[in-house]
Amino acid sequence: MAPLTRGSFAVAGEVRVPGDKSVSHRALICATLAAGSSRVRGLLLSDDVQSTASVLRALGAPLPELSDDVIIEGIGVRGLTQSVHPLNCGNSGTTARLMAGVVAGAGLTATFTGDASLSRRPMRRVQAPLQAMGAVVELPTHGGLPMTVRGAPLTDLVWESEVASAQVKSCVLLAAICSGVEVTVREPTRSRDHTERMLAAMGAEVWINDQSVLLFAAQSLAALDITVPGDPSSASFFAALAAMSASGDLTLPMVGLNDTRTGFLGALRDMGARIDLRSHSLRGGEYVGDLHVRGGETLRGVSVDAEAVPRLIDELPLLACVAAYCEGVTTVTGAAELRVKESDRIAAVVGNLRALGADADELPDGFVVRGTRPRLRGTVTTHGDHRLAMAFGILAALPGNEIAIDDRGCVAVSYPGFWDDLRRVTGG
Ligand code: S3P
Repeated sequence: MAPLTRGSFAVAGEVRVPGDKSVSHRALICATLAAGSSRVRGLLLSDDVQSTASVLRALGAPLPELSDDVIIEGIGVRGLTQSVHPLNCGNSGTTARLMAGVVAGAGLTATFTGDASLSRRPMRRVQAPLQAMGAVVELPTHGGLPMTVRGAPLTDLVWESEVASAQVKSCVLLAAICSGVEVTVREPTRSRDHTERMLAAMGAEVWINDQSVLLFAAQSLAALDITVPGDPSSASFFAALAAMSASGDLTLPMVGLNDTRTGFLGALRDMGARIDLRSHSLRGGEYVGDLHVRGGETLRGVSVDAEAVPRLIDELPLLACVAAYCEGVTTVTGAAELRVKESDRIAAVVGNLRALGADADELPDGFVVRGTRPRLRGTVTTHGDHRLAMAFGILAALPGNEIAIDDRGCVAVSYPGFWDDLRRVTGG
């Protein structure tokens, strides 16, 4: 199969993607827990990050209105206070799970709530380690929200997590920081490590191995001075689109290149895409670089297994969409976690691909997509899931496809300017 050339299809210029969502949540939380005033530039201004800010404010954090360059007055690891209201986390699993750790370690009591999607998501994975440290966590029988966390003076913990989840790991690390205890978290495969990097940059003693992190007891955190890198998950949508365009020629400046996050870019290269790193530097403990993507290559299917999944977990819906335009078959296994994200992303991505005319099947823990370069027609059901809206938004931009998206607004949780950026680089 030759590269996709039908219609006029140029993806050119530059997209400066917004700040990394995972780093932005952590910057707000860690700066609040610091002793002294922190400066955060390039913060992602999205609904999920606003959820973390409003939960912190409800717990007494004096956070200013969020902006691209913000000064945050820290109140110390014991400075938060009781909230009189439930803590509404909106659609954000990161807010609920990380802040559950903070509340538990700070010795506070709070009830976490969220929208319908978040309320269905599994919280036993944070209940178990927090209870093992001495907190009490009450959950409804379905194991989701509302979740009531009753903090206490916590104890040291060595935790073997059944899932490779940065949210679980970060929950335990933040509980330990707020309670001044030592923890080790081991996970089946290393998940994103932004929390431990940030805590280390703030003076905490942290040892990081391939599959475990050890955080020594700390009494305080130094202030933070950070420029949040561009979100590699957001950049992936545009990298994929440029790679699929015969005349793609796109620059993505200042993208975070933490190696726990670059799995999709690596997979896209394995598919045959031309992606160059034009410059890179280490900023605030995180690698950042300018990416350049050229189209015109024939893309080939790839296989992704459990070992590789944590490094591209959020990009798997996009991978499935790109796979429809590859030569050969793409198979993803070991990704059952996708079923408990903002939607059941295995059922949702395969269901939508099939309904539009692509050749895809569900697996219990992944999917198979056979590349047929279909002309897709129909309406995508996003289930309010931002990553599905954007992944299918990329397919909708391919000439010859006629795809409507039922809920374009849901991108606001991670990338509010997505549709504008898409229109701009495709000259639409
Ligand atoms: C995140 C961790 C991942 C990821 C999510 C953000 C984080 O979730 O899917 O979008 O910021 O810690 P899990 O930790 O549940 O895998």
